[in-house]
Amino acid sequence: MAEYAVLMEKEGRVHILEIIDEMAKHKGLGVLNTATLLTDVDVGEEVLVGQKYLTRMPPRLPELISGMARRAQTISSKDAGVFISRLGIGSGDTVLEAGLGSGGLSLHLAKVLGNSGHLVTAEPRSEHADVGLLNLTRARECFTEFPQHTHIEGMLEDVVPDMSFDAIILDMPVHSPAILASAPKLVFGGRIACYAPTTSQLEKCWRSCEEAGLEVEWAGELMERQWGVTSKGGMRPVNGPFGHTAFLIFAQKK
Ligand SMILES: C[S@@+](CC[C@H](N)C(=O)[O-])C[C@H]1O[C@@H](n2cnc3c(N)ncnc32)[C@H](O)[C@@H]1O
Repeated sequence: MAEYAVLMEKEGRVHILEIIDEMAKHKGLGVLNTATLLTDVDVGEEVLVGQKYLTRMPPRLPELISGMARRAQTISSKDAGVFISRLGIGSGDTVLEAGLGSGGLSLHLAKVLGNSGHLVTAEPRSEHADVGLLNLTRARECFTEFPQHTHIEGMLEDVVPDMSFDAIILDMPVHSPAILASAPKLVFGGRIACYAPTTSQLEKCWRSCEEAGLEVEWAGELMERQWGVTSKGGMRPVNGPFGHTAFLIFAQKK
């Protein structure tokens, strides 16, 4: 079993390091023996790495997300939180997620599923799965509870497992074949959700959910606007992009 440490730079950049007793390259930090470096460094303490003072942080979900390995675009906490609450996902549930990608959403799901849940992921591209599975391995070692995890290689529509799901979440460029193939595996009352960056994808999701016999509950977009304290006092929205992530759609089997 690997062990991981979370280190944070003063500016907030997070590094997740595997603790190993050998010199190894760690992106952004150089070549280190992490076992020697971190032997006497407890959570809350600082350690000097090269020219940088880093603070050892507890390995909580936001730190694991900040420091995660990335390849495919990830689903952020803004959208992940609403997936979890609108789908009603919690301990004991069995959830199907595709594509795994970098595992951004999977980390949120693993956290709320706990020991009694089951997360099933599917991903056709091994170079994406390698990154997503690395992030899930780190989370398994860092979280106090972690669900059973089954990963399946392939396009979801070709590999839907013969089991029942309380919830299904689809983040992929073309959703319709996956909706039609996976919807029959939803339990009665279970829900499917899709993450669709464009309106044309959203419309196809809506129509495919209906074709699959599901009732669309909600479709739309979540706006997030960050505020900060100004130098002269008072608060206002911070300067910066007010960006679009994706449209979300939720449909239920009734
Ligand atoms: C944007 S990424 C997913 C990111 C992920 N939700 C996260 O938060 O990190 C989309 C992924 O879907 C995968 N994909 C594309 N078509 C798929 C399909 N039919 N079934 C399963 N995965 C698919 C892609 O290879 C890609 O890795």
